Amino acid sequence: MCGIVGYIGHRQAAGVLLEGLSKLEYRGYDSAGICVHTPQALAVSRSKGRLQTLREKCDSGADLPGTLGIGHTRWATHGAPSDCNAHPHRTRDGKIALVHNGIIENYLELKEELLSRGHRFTSETDTEVAACLLGENYAKTGDMLCAIVATTARLTGSYALGILCLDQPDRMYAVRKDSPLILGWGDNECLIASDAPAILGYTRRVIYPADGDIAILTDQSIQIFNALGNPVLRPTEEVQWSVADAELGDYPHFMLKEIMEQPRVLTDTAAAPLTGNSDCANSLLLDPEQIRNLRRIYIAACGSAYHVGFLGKYILEKYCRIPTESIQASEFRYAAPILDQNTLVILISQSGETADTLAALREAKAQGAHTLAIVNVMGSAIAKAADEVIYTCAGPEIAVATTKAYSAQLAVMYRLALRFARLLETQSQEDIRQAEDALLDLPRQIGQVLLPEGIGQMRTLADRFHACEDIFFIGRNVDAVTCLEGSLKLKELSYIHAEAYPAGELKHGPISLIEEGVPVIALATVRELFHKTMANVKEVKARGATVICLTTEEFAEEARRTADVVVEVPKVHPLLQPSVNIVPLQLFSYFTALNRGCDVDKPRNLAKSVTVE
Ligand code: AGP
Repeated sequence: MCGIVGYIGHRQAAGVLLEGLSKLEYRGYDSAGICVHTPQALAVSRSKGRLQTLREKCDSGADLPGTLGIGHTRWATHGAPSDCNAHPHRTRDGKIALVHNGIIENYLELKEELLSRGHRFTSETDTEVAACLLGENYAKTGDMLCAIVATTARLTGSYALGILCLDQPDRMYAVRKDSPLILGWGDNECLIASDAPAILGYTRRVIYPADGDIAILTDQSIQIFNALGNPVLRPTEEVQWSVADAELGDYPHFMLKEIMEQPRVLTDTAAAPLTGNSDCANSLLLDPEQIRNLRRIYIAACGSAYHVGFLGKYILEKYCRIPTESIQASEFRYAAPILDQNTLVILISQSGETADTLAALREAKAQGAHTLAIVNVMGSAIAKAADEVIYTCAGPEIAVATTKAYSAQLAVMYRLALRFARLLETQSQEDIRQAEDALLDLPRQIGQVLLPEGIGQMRTLADRFHACEDIFFIGRNVDAVTCLEGSLKLKELSYIHAEAYPAGELKHGPISLIEEGVPVIALATVRELFHKTMANVKEVKARGATVICLTTEEFAEEARRTADVVVEVPKVHPLLQPSVNIVPLQLFSYFTALNRGCDVDKPRNLAKSVTVE
């Protein structure tokens, strides 16, 4: 996915655009570019590589004077990262400039058509095709709104567009379909952006356009039209995040900041009422009768959010006795899921824009299931498309590797399970109360793990093992799922080949990979399975592995008799133990990546939200 930004107002646009792009660089960082409406032309500066390269190339925007502009930071989909594939793209007559986030699925067909009419292209991108088609329609109609309506009617796929027209120095255009876009109202200035952090420095009053909407923004007004060009009204909302939430502050990296924010995030998410309108959670529309009639729950998500869903399976089946299946969202709609009105499909997504998760949601709705989204970004596509949404209270998560949002999603999953258990009476009131009290105490417990000695121990382990090329994670039951998340963190941040296996599975093949000195991180915090897990630790030790055992203080002494290193974590309510266990693994991945010289906030090949399938 990519990041787009646009500005019209009383400031020099180039500076606003570059600052906005710095807040969106986590969305893609292969190349970047800006276009400013100057009296002579739509002046463009763009470059392959990080935003800093662009800043240097355009002298921090001094080369592009003007108060109207658009900008883009790219995660390459069509065409390699390069200057000519970088956005903005202009029409050959220089009259229109356009930035795009998304995928034009029928761009090759349109390109052939345009080539046959004599048009030529300078890039490999789908975006330039959209710009060319728009230019053709504008040349026909002389009216930009009509041209946009005619153009978007031909496009299939997803697009958030920012558009400038040389003939119109007093306005910019924006279009949204299946890609995130917000419109910001400032004082004598308006902005567009893919995500709130890019505009928080100017306004917190925003409009979330509906799919297909076309907006015309001047420095005084925002007009919105539907895909047919008819005027529509959309509410203005207040973004709950502050500028500081999206700033690095005194931290060296967003990832460390977001790891350290987890206690506060858990406090906010645990405190937000799951029923009744609030900033962080809306009332559940599912009524007690519907919950009693639930025959099955599916949880569909991607990556770390999928790991939350996998934990959700264990939690909902254990505490609510409802058959629950967790599945990668990219597999969901091809797995012939059994859905009906007695099925609840939970979609988990930090960004609320992940294409596979959005597609799973649409499949679930098409088959009559009730859809509930757990999302961090207000106004996102998944939040708007689901029957109901519970917002996590993680604040803007900038680092590509998720930490605080993962923890917030898990806290919502606990609360949902306890809410269902109370309604279904599958747990005693006393047990539910104890779990709820433990959830309110969880921030303090996680704070213990984040004390200097806890952080220091993980830094030391990273110093010792960062040069390894293979690291294994093993555990049982919910520990096996936390191993999946721990190994994903290590993979995506340090590029080490890390694998996670249920501890009982090793002897069925993977143990052949264990040899002298291979590090194995064993999670052994599920009380009733501790000894079985330690038996698996002995199996890998016997083959030369170096074992780091993460366990609770209750078993630490016993673990020290077998493991080479013991990482002791606070023992909390069994339901909540996965939230504590993941924090040392986040720290280990962070320090390991730093030791290996990796970019912890923007790992190679990744983007914060994958808005392509
Ligand atoms: C996690 O660290 C990754 N960044 C990735 O797996 C992420 O969780 C996944 O792409 C899902 O994103 P979402 O939560 O925004 O849908």
